[in-house]
Amino acid sequence: MGALDFDDPFADDRPEMPSQFAPVARPVPRITVQAFCDTPDVAGTLDMAASDRRMARAHTKVHTGGITAAAEFYRSAPTPNLIVVESRLSREELLAHLDDLAEVCDAGTKVLVIGHSNDVVTYRELLKRGVSEYLIAPVDVMTVIAAIADIYREDGESKLGHVFAFVGAKGGVGSSTIAHNVAWTMARAFGSDVLLADLDLAFGTVALDFNQDPPQGMADAVFGSDRLDEVLLDRLLTKCEEHLSILAAPATLDKTYDFEEDSFDHVLDIVQSNVPTVVLDLPHMWTSWTRKLLLAADDVIVTATPDLANLRNAKNLVDLLKQARPNDTPPKLILNKVGVPRQPEIKVDDFGAALQLAPTAAIPFDPLLFGTAANNGQMIAEASAKSSINDTFAEIAQIITGRMELKHGRKSGLSLAPLFEKLSVMQKSGKKSKSNKAA
Ligand SMILES: Nc1ncnc2c1ncn2[C@@H]1O[C@H](COP(=O)(O)OP(=O)(O)OP(=O)(O)O)[C@@H](O)[C@H]1O
Ligand SMILES: [Mg+2]
Repeated sequence: MGALDFDDPFADDRPEMPSQFAPVARPVPRITVQAFCDTPDVAGTLDMAASDRRMARAHTKVHTGGITAAAEFYRSAPTPNLIVVESRLSREELLAHLDDLAEVCDAGTKVLVIGHSNDVVTYRELLKRGVSEYLIAPVDVMTVIAAIADIYREDGESKLGHVFAFVGAKGGVGSSTIAHNVAWTMARAFGSDVLLADLDLAFGTVALDFNQDPPQGMADAVFGSDRLDEVLLDRLLTKCEEHLSILAAPATLDKTYDFEEDSFDHVLDIVQSNVPTVVLDLPHMWTSWTRKLLLAADDVIVTATPDLANLRNAKNLVDLLKQARPNDTPPKLILNKVGVPRQPEIKVDDFGAALQLAPTAAIPFDPLLFGTAANNGQMIAEASAKSSINDTFAEIAQIITGRMELKHGRKSGLSLAPLFEKLSVMQKSGKKSKSNKAA
């Protein structure tokens, strides 16, 4: 009897057959996952999950040793986006080890626990401690993938991707250079995926700085925004490093780039749903769309050089951001090209005091090093591995991702410098002032 002529009288009453082709779990975004398993069965399941097509974008490593090994491991290593721990310990021991793990977890890391006891009290205690999901062994491959995908589901209150917007207080201050080096450092140091997007469509240097010549990128994403999904995004990205991809600017002048205020909304939605860290390299311009991207970012990093025009512009930016985003952390301030020979400049601490914002970093003027790196399409660490500026980039990466507090206690105890008063007097009277001090 052929399949077509089979008339099944019970067809309507039967539950739908699970099909191996049914989309039982959605794809997992570009996260890093590290699993610490306690039994060969669960380790085998995690290995199979890691090689499933739905987890092809994620970077997954499976270790043994359970939760005890995890807590030990992360004492000296950055934590991934998601830690999966299997445990056969009693409730008390499991919770104690979780507390140890929590102490070494970086902000934003989520935890999925696979336990061996079906006990509601354990489940509640785990949720109270911020654990994202509790599965009970034995687990099958699809259950694990579905649980991971659900943790990062798009309609959750918090999107996966944390957006860092870098903007210069003035043109040419080095905002892009710093954005690129910090993005590169984050990808290397934290081993978690970073997408660097060049929003300076006409003149952006992301592709040059990473020595790439991609045919597609940011322009295709924004001009084809209504078709943009995770598959198209994959095609538009250029991979520079294991964990760093760029959406490069075309840097051509055949089009003008005067977008609507909401032109980047969908691009950002797709990008944020797919990559844990998004770095926006914004051009120094004030349009409705740059303003919107700046105000919508999770963190804003303003780069300035230590002169008066930068001080005025940085103050305007910082004031606007603080006023428009009262519940967010204030923007971060980076002073760049500090110590240009024979050029009068405002002292770093005075600059910070005038903005009531302790600078996150002060980067020296080093034309040989920065010029060499830029002309060779290299990062500073590639041009000079020994330069102390690499430590500064690492520090910026740590501070903006909340892994490290500002050093030197510069956060508190700021007094308003005379400069700040001079600036406001100047703004009121429109007079010029010679308050600059030699470096
Ligand atoms: N600390 C530094 N010392 C010397 N040169 C630097 C330093 N930082 C950046 N530069 C150089 O300054 C120039 C401008 O840098 P960059 O393009 O990053 O600035 P920007 O603020 O993004 O400019 P734009 O307004 O065009 O976007 C580049 O040639 C770069 O190599
Ligand atoms: Mg730039």
